[in-house]
Amino acid sequence: MDITILGIESSCDDTSAAVIRNTTLLSNVIASQAVHVKYGGVIPELASRAHQQNIIPVVDTALKEAGITADKIDAIAFTRGPGLLGSLLVGTSFAKGLSIAGNIPMVEVNHLQGHILSHFIDLPDREMPHPSFPFLCLLVSGGHTQIVKVSSPLEMEIIGTTIDDAAGEAFDKCAKVMGLPYPGGPVIDRLAKEGNPNAFTFAKPHVKGEFDYSFSGLKTSFLYTLRDKVAEDADFIEKNKADLCASLQHTIISILLDKLIKATKALGIKDVAIAGGVSANSGLREAVAEAGRRRGWRTFIPEFKFTTDNAAMIAISGYYRYNQGMISGLDVAPVARLEEIL
Ligand code: KG4
Ligand code: ZN
Repeated sequence: MDITILGIESSCDDTSAAVIRNTTLLSNVIASQAVHVKYGGVIPELASRAHQQNIIPVVDTALKEAGITADKIDAIAFTRGPGLLGSLLVGTSFAKGLSIAGNIPMVEVNHLQGHILSHFIDLPDREMPHPSFPFLCLLVSGGHTQIVKVSSPLEMEIIGTTIDDAAGEAFDKCAKVMGLPYPGGPVIDRLAKEGNPNAFTFAKPHVKGEFDYSFSGLKTSFLYTLRDKVAEDADFIEKNKADLCASLQHTIISILLDKLIKATKALGIKDVAIAGGVSANSGLREAVAEAGRRRGWRTFIPEFKFTTDNAAMIAISGYYRYNQGMISGLDVAPVARLEEIL
């Protein structure tokens, strides 16, 4: 029997709704919030207000595009966390309202598991290549950087994690000090294409944990380089923007790849996926594909629309959980931190 899931994502600054039938995506609507750009970062209170404005039209459009009405939905999957509490509260409360009104079960989803399971979404006109279990996923987003061993859609183990900043944060914070707009990751990606990745050398971390990451040292090293150079020449950043971006991106990718390669060797796993907002980075995509060619991995690089936050990944995760009877009660509350979900 077909299972139809409505997914709702509201963990940060994108309001998204999607409909999936079994593993096939029927619609995926995303409303991004422009309000944060002028502040150079996401303002939580503004984010939750924008979610409140967006959520009804976004869900409505997702249902219409899928060609169904709410009474045809088997379950509502929603992001329970991690994320901004106020933002999560909007999605969770909306899911509860719809659940009560339509007598539709709710399924809570861990946002990070959602990013990983985006690799199992099929499109109506084509089946996508799916990794085989167990596989390793490098999960790189604005808030998290992890190496996850995925044994099944519901069994995941974090084998490495950042001890301070996330990779996306390193992109965004370094972009900010260069005066680039938020979010900085995509801007650096674009500028890096014109620059020399070996023009500058930044600090690479020595982290105790075998598969753990750290990005705060790189950020400091980047900042000190700018400070010293700008003291000599006030126009230094403007003149060297492309080289700075290329060198920074090169360093972040090299840090990410070192530990990922180590993990594949240690675990003897050759199916390797990347997921999360930073997996949209063209340099990272190419570097992972190249490492795969050299090392005999099968690599799984997500379509761009599934890299940054979207509800399709929440709907597919909801599908797997619903199949296992994992229904949430009406007393479910959102949680901001990952540790509270695990
Ligand atoms: O997964 P995501 O949409 O939200 C979180 O769950 O955090 O990730 C957002 C992050 C931001 O830090 C953004 O700068 C980064 O993904 N990002 C990129 C690119 N596109 C988005 N970083 C580098 N290169 C990109 N092309
Ligand atoms: Zn995300």
